[in-house]
Amino acid sequence: MSAEAQLKYPEIISDRIPEHVAIIMDGNGRWARQQGHMRIFGHKHGVNAVRNSLEFAAEVGIKYLTLYAFSTENWNRPQREINALMELLVDTIQKELPALMKNNIRLKTIGNIQMLPKKCQNQLKETEKATAGNDRTTLILALSYSGRWDIIEAVKKIAEQAKSGEINPLEINENTLNNALNTAQYPNPDLLIRTSGEMRISNFLLWEIAYSEIHFTKVLWPDFRKEHFLEALIDYQSRERRFGKTSEQLAN
Ligand code: FPP
Repeated sequence: MSAEAQLKYPEIISDRIPEHVAIIMDGNGRWARQQGHMRIFGHKHGVNAVRNSLEFAAEVGIKYLTLYAFSTENWNRPQREINALMELLVDTIQKELPALMKNNIRLKTIGNIQMLPKKCQNQLKETEKATAGNDRTTLILALSYSGRWDIIEAVKKIAEQAKSGEINPLEINENTLNNALNTAQYPNPDLLIRTSGEMRISNFLLWEIAYSEIHFTKVLWPDFRKEHFLEALIDYQSRERRFGKTSEQLAN
């Protein structure tokens, strides 16, 4: 974390910054309804929370921020809402490109991107290409993504490799699966945040969160700001991550 960030957030322990934070952005629909608006109004305001969170992540030195923007199951929503979400996505990444460049942020995606409208795919490809050289923070958008989908795709790849003799089935281990997932190039999340008070994983990063700390907040996603991210970070820093070991083992 920079000296500037430490001054701004003195409560953060600078040598215990999570490398990867994943967020289940939930509550847009409820936020909109509470104000008597259509659900998409909530999604639109959710973009402010995305911007705010990304800024915070970059500021404090979080290297990877994964956002659950559209799940495999979200395809079952009313077509009107799906279209509006896709448009919002294209619009947002187009508009935010200068800010991504200025802040040295790289955009990546995980998920079944081929399912997205062509316009969306092209915009994502273009932005990924333009930001490929940026290395401050990587923003990973999970789109048409679900943990089970990714695991099934990975198993198919591994089965093909076994069939062709490229790998020995008896030698399949955690690394084999890690390397076959969409998330292969990223570390596992240290911290998972879910907003809106729901306490579920909802098919997000199932394999990768095996040892993640989880922080739930009642705040609805459109209201989520740096102060709430900071709260989650402080909660994370207060936890003892044992990875199956005892406290005594860790102390030694
Ligand atoms: C969950 O709220 C939110 C989503 C399914 C979509 C999240 C998308 C955005 C915040 C905008 C995308 C923009 C970018 C650049 C990533 P919900 O609709 O499930 O809310 P509810 O549980 O209250 O109904």
